[in-house]
Amino acid sequence: VLNEGDVAALEHLAEILIRDKLGAKHESGYYNQCFAKGFAALYGVPFATTFSSGSAALEAALFACDVGPHDEVIVDPFLKYAPLAAVRRRAVPVFADVLPETLVLSPEAVARAVTPRTKAVIVTALFGQPVTAAPYRTVLGGAPVRLVADCAQALLAERAGSLAGPDFDVATFSFQESKHLSTGEGGMLITPDRAIFERAVELKDFGWRPGRADAEVTEGWMYRMAEPLAAIGTARLRSANALVTRHREIAAAMTEVVADCEVLRVVGAFESGHACWTWAAEILNEAARAHLAVLFRGEDRLQVGYCRAGLNYERPLFGSYPASDPALATQIERATCSVAKDITPRLVHVRIDARRDLASHLSDMHRLRNALAGV
Ligand SMILES: Cc1ncc(COP(=O)(O)O)c(C=O)c1O
Repeated sequence: VLNEGDVAALEHLAEILIRDKLGAKHESGYYNQCFAKGFAALYGVPFATTFSSGSAALEAALFACDVGPHDEVIVDPFLKYAPLAAVRRRAVPVFADVLPETLVLSPEAVARAVTPRTKAVIVTALFGQPVTAAPYRTVLGGAPVRLVADCAQALLAERAGSLAGPDFDVATFSFQESKHLSTGEGGMLITPDRAIFERAVELKDFGWRPGRADAEVTEGWMYRMAEPLAAIGTARLRSANALVTRHREIAAAMTEVVADCEVLRVVGAFESGHACWTWAAEILNEAARAHLAVLFRGEDRLQVGYCRAGLNYERPLFGSYPASDPALATQIERATCSVAKDITPRLVHVRIDARRDLASHLSDMHRLRNALAGV
């Protein structure tokens, strides 16, 4: 069933096809501008710009923070996106451990990982956790280190009435298919800082900057979003609050099904501002973990052991990284990250998809509950 946003998207798409203006070179795309302006307004920031993916936006964030060869970027070890963004800037990703309650980068671990070569810290808002910049700024104590929030899984996450993202130097989002708001593929970068914004636009458009001659262009890739995707984003932005609210309602109902399962601890506890991109819990008992891991082997929606992709069973921490980059391989070898290593095989996470009905989510949770009853 098409919602209000999708009907608007169809109208926009028809109009784009009639005008035959599908590209967005040199910030010329009408819908790219609409999507970015709408997103900036939603987040109360002066600057936003679209990207072809969340990964491209994250790389542009590092580029705009002047991260380059041999600089160090502190990241958590769960997901590959932040370390790979550093690798693409030819920088060194340095892994620091996470907090056991939320699985978000630990400020104390960041403090231990900082060196004179640290240029940026990427805080990933895992599963939709509302992250804030203040604890990291405190431990950095005025060091010239940029704070980047990867909010790909955390659309409209908030803490104490403040959205997660705008208090960082720069924050990025993804509109890939599984995310709250999908344009198929796509990304967004927001920042309060004009210089960061202008640099990010340069990276996405072959180094283009208004008024600058081609001969002066230094660096840039092709990370632009096409107009039809920006039109879908513009239209769906109207439903952003409703989409996130739906994720929250589904997550609350899912938690209720396993509320009396003492071997599960819900990660992040889904406080009201959590964006609930996915439902996740720590399995506290080894027999239960082993049982669930066998039972849910190869499943897509209900997985044990994060982060594993569809068919791989119990992928270890760092299991989804390409081994090809020597700097990355060395850092993986050096990483201690005992909290993340310990919890990875004991994480069960269950997909939330606002397009599916509540009953199918609850049936996943009943399977989980029944499986635990049998241990
Ligand atoms: C936390 C996180 N960061 C970055 C990305 C990359 O986004 P994209 O797939 O749009 O490149 C994703 C997922 O796709 C993600 O979950």
